[in-house]
Amino acid sequence: MSHRGITSTNFSIADLALAQTGRHQISLAQNEMPGLMAIRAEYAQSQPLAGARISVSLSITVQTAVLVETLVALGARVRLASCNIFSSQDEAAAALVVGSGTSESPAGISVFGWKGESSKEFWWCLDQILDWSNYPDADGNTHPGPTSIIDDGGDLIYLVHQGIEFEKSGVLHRQNSWIESEHEIVRELLAASQSKNPTRFATLVSQVIGASEETTTGIQRLEELSRKGELKFPVINVNDAVTKSKFDNKYGIRHSLVDGLNRATDVLIGGKVAFVAGYGDVGKGCAEALAGQGARVIIGEIDPICALQAAMDGYQVAQLEEVIEQLDFVITATGNIDIVRPEHFLKLKNLAILANVGHFDNEIDMHGLEALEGAQKVQIKPLVDQWTLPNGRSILVLSEGRVMNLGNATGHPSFVMSASFTNQAMAQIELAQNATNLEPRVHLIGKLADEKVARLHLPALGVSLTKLSERQAGYISVPVEGPYKPDQYRY
Ligand code: NAD
Ligand code: ADE
Repeated sequence: MSHRGITSTNFSIADLALAQTGRHQISLAQNEMPGLMAIRAEYAQSQPLAGARISVSLSITVQTAVLVETLVALGARVRLASCNIFSSQDEAAAALVVGSGTSESPAGISVFGWKGESSKEFWWCLDQILDWSNYPDADGNTHPGPTSIIDDGGDLIYLVHQGIEFEKSGVLHRQNSWIESEHEIVRELLAASQSKNPTRFATLVSQVIGASEETTTGIQRLEELSRKGELKFPVINVNDAVTKSKFDNKYGIRHSLVDGLNRATDVLIGGKVAFVAGYGDVGKGCAEALAGQGARVIIGEIDPICALQAAMDGYQVAQLEEVIEQLDFVITATGNIDIVRPEHFLKLKNLAILANVGHFDNEIDMHGLEALEGAQKVQIKPLVDQWTLPNGRSILVLSEGRVMNLGNATGHPSFVMSASFTNQAMAQIELAQNATNLEPRVHLIGKLADEKVARLHLPALGVSLTKLSERQAGYISVPVEGPYKPDQYRY
């Protein structure tokens, strides 16, 4: 496989010359990532990840670089690929490969990814980070694969599971988040792997002690594997840590949705009408951001509880069909398929903007758009396309229907990612120390750990926490040192 960038056995990225600018951004980001930096300090001596080989599939951003270098500072070795074809920051990838000559950032972290991969390149990169056979450790030993995985969306964990099934049956089971062409790419990849080594995935999985998963969609997919009893190792659910989904998903997108819209279009948001499909954690952040810019926000929901929340928060709640002709912006944030379909495209106002922030690119029916007879695309700039429709009107589609806050901007800011990635680092420590006691199913992060992540982020915001007295703790039946809420508490 070749691409536009620079490739060696242990990395494949866009441009090594971007390393210095990437390093500057990583240094700045560290100041905004107090949780990760505290974890580095806490575990510098004990090295809980010594000997760990972690295959990581996350958006290759500056914030991910700080996580990766934290894992390395704790003793791990890492191979990193992107979880999305448009979400890499090439400067972050270059800085990781080149390193800064410090112990947490030695030269030569293995990175496979660049902004603007094809689907085939994306799967090739995932395959590369699972293959540790040419990546000897300090003692010169090589290993077939990782000891643990960090995933965002579940594709890497699915690839491993499908690899084992394929080796047994020669059949690749259909994934409803993969389109036909993607299914065929994965089938070809697994067939090639099998012809080289018929037991590669079986051997590889036998050495994986567990994984941690970053996002809502990934957890939904892995819970399905778990329910069917097919999960081969424990997975720690980072997404549903309160300090992840109630912060990254909500406050992260509150920042990065508008950032993406502005960088892509510079269209004024105030006074316009915006539809947000989905009023879960991400949808709530989108709605708040758009309303904060002065837009009139309309919510679409299927869940009566979330619909009622949206109404009580002051938003109109409607079906897309009822309001489509009024909309200037349509944002999808459902993690579900077929939200904006061809019949909707044709009813939109001229130059309405369509953007998705859900994990996969199936919320806006891009194939339906391409198939509209006479529809024509003009690229305004990278990842901003103007589609002229058969009715003579045009619409603007961002990031080809993929996550636009990472495609058109640089994703969530460092401070919220610090909370998410502190959970990731702690999940990997938990796997290293305790995986043998964890069943092969999806596990939640405990409340004490969750509260610790929050605590690590308070000083940077000048928060002065009220101290619970022994008497008060007894009165509400919680330990003085926490956890302060029962498991079912919803925040
Ligand atoms: P969530 O489950 O909290 O919210 C999704 C909401 O969509 C739910 O309330 C659900 O009822 C609603 N929904 C489902 N089908 C719908 C339909 N047909 N029409 C209207 N509403 C519908 O999930 P979340 O945490 O908000 O995540 C949403 C998506 O965003 C997921 O794919 C997740 O992985 C992704 N995500 C993206 C980013 C990012 O940076 N872009 C960050 C975090 C999560
Ligand atoms: N997901 C959303 N924003 C992100 C970021 N800045 N880095 C990695 N993953 C992200």
